[in-house]
Amino acid sequence: KDKSSVTITVVGASGDLAKKKIFPALFALYYEDCLPEHFTIFGYARSKMTDAELRDMVSKTLTCRIDKRANCGEKMEQFLKRCFYHSGQYDSEANFAELDKKLKEHEAGTIANRLFYLSIPPNIFINAVKSASISASSANGWTRVIVEKPFGRDSESSAALTTALKQYLEEDQIFRIDHYLGKELVENLSVLRFSNLIFEPLWSRQFIRNVQLIFSEDFGTEGRGGYFDNYGIVRDIMQNHLLQILALFAMETPVSLDAEDIRNEKVKVLRSMRPIQLDDVVIGQYKSHTRGGVNYPAYTDDKTVPHNSLTPTFAAAALFIDNARWDGVPFLMKAGKALHDRRTEIRVQFRHVPGNLYKRNFGTNLDHETNELVIRVQPDEAIYLKINNKVPGLGMRLDRSNLNLLYSTRYSGEIPDAYERLLLDAVEGERRLFIRSDELDAAWSLFTPVLKDLEDKKTVPEYYPYGSRGPVGAHYLAAKYKVRWGDFA
Ligand code: BG6
Repeated sequence: KDKSSVTITVVGASGDLAKKKIFPALFALYYEDCLPEHFTIFGYARSKMTDAELRDMVSKTLTCRIDKRANCGEKMEQFLKRCFYHSGQYDSEANFAELDKKLKEHEAGTIANRLFYLSIPPNIFINAVKSASISASSANGWTRVIVEKPFGRDSESSAALTTALKQYLEEDQIFRIDHYLGKELVENLSVLRFSNLIFEPLWSRQFIRNVQLIFSEDFGTEGRGGYFDNYGIVRDIMQNHLLQILALFAMETPVSLDAEDIRNEKVKVLRSMRPIQLDDVVIGQYKSHTRGGVNYPAYTDDKTVPHNSLTPTFAAAALFIDNARWDGVPFLMKAGKALHDRRTEIRVQFRHVPGNLYKRNFGTNLDHETNELVIRVQPDEAIYLKINNKVPGLGMRLDRSNLNLLYSTRYSGEIPDAYERLLLDAVEGERRLFIRSDELDAAWSLFTPVLKDLEDKKTVPEYYPYGSRGPVGAHYLAAKYKVRWGDFA
């Protein structure tokens, strides 16, 4: 019999992330029998709530991939019996000591392991870490803490946060989440590259013309303006989600799949990146737009956003890796809110075939001669490769067609939410998908100078209508490097 137990305390249990992501992910893990035999979940927040009220909240807001299953209700009942609530202040050692007492009741007779998920703003999480680590860290098992971005807003504040965390925790107790690393297709990047002979040999400046990392959302900052205005899209998406994908994409082959080996390679590639130039960045902000009789608000219409805010809700940037593999290859990033669709994609555009025999069979669009590999992270997960192909018939006309791996038609299983994978990894102590502090430093070193430049110069964003394809400046930026955005093809 397993004598160890795990309690997962969600600090900030009444918040949005907890309701939308953390509790549903925990339930899905429970449903899939992935949680240890002895597990308990505690919600911790300032609001007064009973266990029953927490259970009610969890079951009401629980929307996840499991919903459709037949025995969902029954499993939910069992799951809720393992959920408890404790109300307390985030900086109160006394309140965490009360929590500790309750945790002990559930842990009696076991090797007690404790995982704290800090789903609270960073300005209060240091105090919470302090109180939790003093009053509620496990006496005989492990204690781990999951923290979520924002990890500061620049190199300096991030370093201060790291120093503060390390007063109370060892690096190997800190699990910094970037939830994009938990996405199925992001995890698959390494599989695709390192276990298929046809990709890895082509993975360099010799064959790749440019790489594009595209994030778009078809909704604005609705309800999150207060948070967002202090960060902007570069900090919200580029410095973490897109840069993490870039690091995984571009790193050298790790020694093994071990977390340290992978993260060593990611840090190396991040440290090889050229400082981002101000004229390699375009920023935008959405303005209101009326379509089909519906009025979509401007970013600054949000009451929690200053009316003259210059915070970008869109950005495009050209990045370069100054190493032997990638010298001169533009890595173009684009991220925006309130655009015309929701998608995250990695696009790899290959070089022209030298002396292509079939050049004249393509018509006028030279772009059609080159291969493009598209990894669609979401929605409709897919990997497809654009190849040149003969249009069937007696003539010799070529077109570009897709070799298409669409997940929904190929695989019948559901794709787990990123938070499921990450929570499970944290419970199991697998660190591969979490950000090490030197990775975080490298990511900030890359973006801090250009963010400072943009802010010091009070750069005015290019305004784009809500629901549009974003500022035209993004096209000029790509054109500067003789690139066309693949999502416009
Ligand atoms: C978060 C950002 O990290 O990621 C949000 O703070 C963004 O602004 C979200 O909406 C996107 O995540 P997903 O998984 O819905 O693509």
